[in-house]
Amino acid sequence: MDELKRKLGIESRTMHNTSKIDEPKAKRLKMLSYAKRRKAREDAARTQNNQYCNGYDFELFSKSSRVYPYLIRGGLYTTIDWKNHEAVKAFNLSLLKRDFNISIDLASGRLVPSVPSRLNYIKWINDLLAISKKVKVTSCHFLENKIDGIDIGTGSSCVYPLLGTSMHKKWHFYATEMDSISLECARKNVLRNPDYKQRIKLIQGSGRNLFKPVFEEYSYLGSKNPVAFTMCNPPYYKSKKEWNLNRQDAFGGHPVEMVTEGGEASFVRKMVEESVIYKDKVVWFTTLLGFKHHLKSIKALLESLSHQHAVTAVKHTTFKQGRTCRWGIAWSFFEGLNEHEAVEVKFKISNRANLNGQAVKDVKKYVHDRIAVFVTSNCCKDYRMKHKVIGGNCIVEISPSNGRGMFNVNVDVDSDSQVSFVLVPMASQNLAPSMDLKAKGSNYKFDFFKIVDNMRSCISQSRRWKRRKLKASKEELLN
Ligand SMILES: C[S@@+](CC[C@H](N)C(=O)[O-])C[C@H]1O[C@@H](n2cnc3c(N)ncnc32)[C@H](O)[C@@H]1O
Repeated sequence: MDELKRKLGIESRTMHNTSKIDEPKAKRLKMLSYAKRRKAREDAARTQNNQYCNGYDFELFSKSSRVYPYLIRGGLYTTIDWKNHEAVKAFNLSLLKRDFNISIDLASGRLVPSVPSRLNYIKWINDLLAISKKVKVTSCHFLENKIDGIDIGTGSSCVYPLLGTSMHKKWHFYATEMDSISLECARKNVLRNPDYKQRIKLIQGSGRNLFKPVFEEYSYLGSKNPVAFTMCNPPYYKSKKEWNLNRQDAFGGHPVEMVTEGGEASFVRKMVEESVIYKDKVVWFTTLLGFKHHLKSIKALLESLSHQHAVTAVKHTTFKQGRTCRWGIAWSFFEGLNEHEAVEVKFKISNRANLNGQAVKDVKKYVHDRIAVFVTSNCCKDYRMKHKVIGGNCIVEISPSNGRGMFNVNVDVDSDSQVSFVLVPMASQNLAPSMDLKAKGSNYKFDFFKIVDNMRSCISQSRRWKRRKLKASKEELLN
């Protein structure tokens, strides 16, 4: 039992508690609430790999910080009341001050930005820039000097420009805001932070266009160097009623920030349509989405555009912060964003153990099952699958396609091996690079990205599956 607990990573305090299962009811109830709190803590720390994934270090808030009066001590952890608007506001503003040296205030009743989740989006943008290393403008690389970004609907906090410039010295922001009260407050917030104010420009947004006000006011933008990215946390809801159904009161918000005609779907659709106009001026267009099902429809829209306007890359991600999920979608019309991709899926078959730490009885089936996920799409017939084996003796046979877009994969593993598979588009292998996009009326690159995305989500699914298993075992132990 102890060995099992050690493997599952249950900390000593938990072990101490779980060993007392025969104690009186009151104590057991206490343990239960401990397990609940532990779960909440795990929820809060889940998935996003930001600096807060192990908690918020409430003890590090100084007495002068705004959150100090709201700290709840006692019990096992210091925390705040997450349902209290004032406490949540004070917490996020204090976090900005403590960890980023950013001072802001918010216009009355306007949205409180959740710092960890805003951080996740900034980090994703930075990841996208990392795969833009091959985009060159004339002879120089566009990321070498100043990195321009656009934030649509910056809010009264101006949180993305402030976070972005504080974290990345080369970043400059052009941020729009339609609501005049928020814009005024955003201007004050920029002035409050002299270290970053030179790198943030604020622009009055318009209800009709999203990017036009920026490019009209700063006509030089994107002409020599493309704008590296655009970002947006759009109003998610199409009516006050819909907002009320999903409302998180602790974060506040005003209808002008949260509600837009047609909801986020039509807001982002407009953004996609406008992006075509500025396709040579911006490398990555990105936005957040509050509803997962819109991800699908926006991807479908981008796919439909891919033939007409050569959308060359579409990426998406899930931001999970505590119990809240948001989705990010990014697209580009620039060439050269593909090559850098590690389109690799690795299966480490060490001691024939699978993700769950158990022996794999049928390695062939194990690997095949995982690969099968990627290869059911029709477009696979346009790809070749390459494989690589590191260590051990492993025989992999891949017959390219059976005509229905399926690969037949046979694997025989003798000992510890790491097997990786790479999908390579036939076009870029067999044809000159200039011919690879339009051949056979198909957009190979776009299809390729779809497969890459599938691979990604499959990998994260296996990780999620592993975590779920681990959690289930822990809970079993606790019960
Ligand atoms: C959900 S809030 C996001 C605020 C801030 N970016 C954040 O993440 O906390 C959406 C913001 O977009 C602004 N907005 C809505 N439509 C806009 C438009 N067409 N142009 C500029 N801003 C707009 C709203 O006023 C609101 O401040």
